[in-house]
Amino acid sequence: MQPRAVVTGVGHFLPARVVPNSEFESTLETSDEWIRTRSGIERRHFAAEDETTSTMATAAARTAMDRAGCGPQDIDAIILATSTADYTFPSAATMVQSELGITQGFAFDVQAVCAGFVYALSNANALIVSGQARRVLVIGAETFSRIMDWTDRSTCVLFGDGAGALVLEAQDGTGTSDDRGILATDLHSDGRYRDLLYVDGGVSTRTTGYLRMQGNQVFRHAIEKLTATAETALEKAGLTSADVDWIVPHQANIRIIKGTAKKMGVGMDRVVVTVQDHGNTSAASIPLALSVGCERGQIKPGDLLVTEAIGGGLAWGSVILRW
Ligand code: ACO
Repeated sequence: MQPRAVVTGVGHFLPARVVPNSEFESTLETSDEWIRTRSGIERRHFAAEDETTSTMATAAARTAMDRAGCGPQDIDAIILATSTADYTFPSAATMVQSELGITQGFAFDVQAVCAGFVYALSNANALIVSGQARRVLVIGAETFSRIMDWTDRSTCVLFGDGAGALVLEAQDGTGTSDDRGILATDLHSDGRYRDLLYVDGGVSTRTTGYLRMQGNQVFRHAIEKLTATAETALEKAGLTSADVDWIVPHQANIRIIKGTAKKMGVGMDRVVVTVQDHGNTSAASIPLALSVGCERGQIKPGDLLVTEAIGGGLAWGSVILRW
């Protein structure tokens, strides 16, 4: 017997306001055609004034808990991946905890930018496998519209807001790759690349700041590092890319998604793609894609999934799970 962290519920939340590429044409030297062909993005959702990372996270978590058939008393821990928490402190995770009426256990945020959700999944898996928690709510939620420089066409057209959530539950497995749940994780970071993607402000520098990105430099690292981490994680699980039913990648750019799938030898008919509708929602993009992929009928129980992400830090990683 081996404990496994198995997904029992998934949900997401997207703000009502949908912004098509054409909306940027009146304020910036850009076009729908440029944004589509360079990134694959067609539209994104932006939060309303009264919507924050914790309100979106709470909504996504409620759906995931409903689908898992669990109530506030059943959750032992909450891990929320975000770089755009409501406040410097308390953590957005504790705000979600109180909104959901959860008074036991513990809650904390994980900050690994776009790789945040794979970092959060890996931490949740460690808590479950080590017996520290039985049921963990794992959330990715972002309000990147609040850190955009609206005069910088090279970044502000690429990002969006939203949230996705999973309930992970301890279940007994056999220790083979046929088990449901998380089968392997692989995480990396290399702070030498911090200047490629960062926010030029923060509390200890007494500034606010906007997202800055050398997009073409990040692009150069992305396909190689994502392929390597996904293949390493598959190897740790005793599997190969031939076993993969779905790649559920971080949704930053369709060219990165296609390039990585091609390098792994996986056809695009086995990749869940939502970037056209959501833009890059950073730590929220993978749980959003998991939730939408289930609603579309793509992801089914028993399917072998590879999630992979790279972002600011640079930080990157991959998680292999059987749905
Ligand atoms: N509209 C029109 N032209 C534009 C726009 C725009 N919105 N933005 C940039 N351009 C111009 C540039 O100024 C440049 O012009 P120049 O040649 O005259 O200098 C030209 O388009 C090409 O710019 P590049 O940056 O080289 O374009 P590229 O093909 O690399 O595409 C993009 C840019 C979409 C940003 C791509 O590099 C990318 O997706 N990079 C990776 C992003 C990513 O994965 N980030 C990681 C996750 S995010 C996170 O962690 C928070």
